[in-house]
Amino acid sequence: MTSNPAVDSSSERSSTPRTTTDSGAPAPSDEHSLTVGPGGPIVLHDHYLIEQMAQFNRERVPERQPHAKGSGAFGVFETTDDVSEFTCAAVFSPGEQTEVLARFSTVAGERGSPDTWRDPRGFALKFYTREGNYDMVGNNTPIFFIKDPMKFQHFIRSQKRRADNNLRDHDMQWDFWTLSPESAHQVTWLMGDRGIPRTWRHMNGYSSHTYLWENAHGVKHWVKYHFISEQGVECFTQHEADQMASADTDYHTRDLFESIDAGDHPSWTLKVQLMPYDDATAYRFNPFDLTKVWPHDDYPLREVGRLTLNRNPVDHHTEIEQAAFEPNSLVPGIGLSPDRMLLARSFAYSDAHRYRIGANYKQVPVNAPTVPTHSYSKDGAMRVQPVRDPVYAPNSYGGPHADPPPGLDPGWAADGAIVRSAYVDHPADDDFGQAGTLVREVMDDEARERLVDNVVGHLLNGVSAPVLERALEYWRRIDAGVGQAIADGVAEKSDQDDPKAAEQDNPARESMRARA
Ligand code: HEM
Repeated sequence: MTSNPAVDSSSERSSTPRTTTDSGAPAPSDEHSLTVGPGGPIVLHDHYLIEQMAQFNRERVPERQPHAKGSGAFGVFETTDDVSEFTCAAVFSPGEQTEVLARFSTVAGERGSPDTWRDPRGFALKFYTREGNYDMVGNNTPIFFIKDPMKFQHFIRSQKRRADNNLRDHDMQWDFWTLSPESAHQVTWLMGDRGIPRTWRHMNGYSSHTYLWENAHGVKHWVKYHFISEQGVECFTQHEADQMASADTDYHTRDLFESIDAGDHPSWTLKVQLMPYDDATAYRFNPFDLTKVWPHDDYPLREVGRLTLNRNPVDHHTEIEQAAFEPNSLVPGIGLSPDRMLLARSFAYSDAHRYRIGANYKQVPVNAPTVPTHSYSKDGAMRVQPVRDPVYAPNSYGGPHADPPPGLDPGWAADGAIVRSAYVDHPADDDFGQAGTLVREVMDDEARERLVDNVVGHLLNGVSAPVLERALEYWRRIDAGVGQAIADGVAEKSDQDDPKAAEQDNPARESMRARA
């Protein structure tokens, strides 16, 4: 076989390991396929060429349906405060140090989409605890757009691409949002400064949902997690984000990797809000409603520990793309809550992983717990951990037996007829109240101006007249002043100034409306 003398003579090359096939045997060549004479056809028994081509054709796993674009890193969580009166989870016992994987992501964009698009950011954590893996799959926002999982698929589709032209479409987004007024709080958040973090290091993470903690004596508290960035919260303006999207599509990915590489390890302080179990029934709004925050005056933040990311992945695919986070991965002392979004998520993720990665996704090293497993799961594609007899329970041959420790599966009282309905109203349940508070009490004048600019820019980008009308009403209901400023801003902009105005007359949309 002829080889390239320039490469062979390089001393640098001779010190690198020999290429092998996937079976570990020496590879015949990095450059030449096997042919019948130098000018002749390739032969089918060039198994190494075939291995290269076949493997290449299978390199991609399906991207995550939402949250496709993202990256992550490993680190450690240290529990610095004593919260044992609230949870018996070992991961939160004083002084405990636990290895963690974090993945950050955008929601709507595909794997190659810009990191700086306006979108919530995923904030997913896997704690490799001594009681098994615990996943906290949150966002950088303390709330969400909807409160019933029946709407989730529709919501995500409205944020992604149209069927006909395969374009993202502001009309579709505002159509869904304005027909789903429970989205007002999250949309206000998204259109404000925090809608585009400067880096993943400069954003907070939230469980958003309420979870249940139980201590060693069976006492329960409802809990919300807040991971507060120790780098501070910094955001991009729309203009900065647009510039960055074209200058560096992968800006957030690069920033995280390079910071950790340079020894600048980002960290977050975990604080929690704790609500005594019995408060939930009498609280003035439904504490499990994912579109609401709990005011800190009612339930102040209490410190738990510190998350530090200090190790980059070696291989993005095996350690990040194949990472499988799931809100149902819980440990003793931590449970779900009656939040129906959370309950639906406890099914959705493991189902997605079985499709995206395969039935034995938990045996991929990044998903495998650091503690030994003794489960009765068996066989299936790509199983690598040997199964041992007996393969059934109960058995009389010394197989594992369930022995639930205190705090496993904390539950709550539930009773009633099986129905399809909205949550039962609490006195202060409404869609617009907390969005208005965010605009009036959290934002200052400059932040409100930027909010108005962002919304006006978004609405003037292909939103049809009827949806635009509804959007103006939606904003008036959030805050009369901001609503008026948005209406004025929209009115001031002529169609000529709007490069996308032509899309408002999109014939496909007209026909869709006609069908409706
Ligand atoms: C990813 C479903 C709500 C945060 C995903 C994935 C699915 C999904 C199927 C892709 C999983 C994968 O292929 O690995 C749902 C459903 C929801 C819901 C059905 C509501 C009913 C939420 C909420 C949050 C959230 C409320 C935040 C509080 C995330 C994050 C990821 C994700 C962070 C990416 C995880 C990663 O980095 O791998 N979601 N989701 N989701 N979701 Fe949700």
